[in-house]
Amino acid sequence: MLKLTIIANDDTPYELDVQEGSTVMENAVRNSVPGIEAECGGACACATCHVYVDEAWIEKVGEPEPMEEDMLDFAFDVRPNSRLSCQIKMTGAFDGLVVRVPERQG
Ligand code: FES
Repeated sequence: MLKLTIIANDDTPYELDVQEGSTVMENAVRNSVPGIEAECGGACACATCHVYVDEAWIEKVGEPEPMEEDMLDFAFDVRPNSRLSCQIKMTGAFDGLVVRVPERQG
């Protein structure tokens, strides 16, 4: 199991134990984290799973792929550390990852 912290848009931290290979979005939905709508179910086609990657993790998590970048154009208040959480797959390298849910989606 890996540690993942998702800070909801009301500042509540959800400290989760998650499976390797699962996406950040799947874990948010499974644990009813408010603010992650994930309308397309993880197909990188909706931008309602937008999160901000914690500053300390940006380099490790890396940049979005071009398709994700295009979808992010539809997200609300996009920042340099914005990612779509369905495109972040948990691996050992991401153990302890922290992301924050934006004020609202889309
Ligand atoms: Fe739709 Fe991530 S769930 S883009």
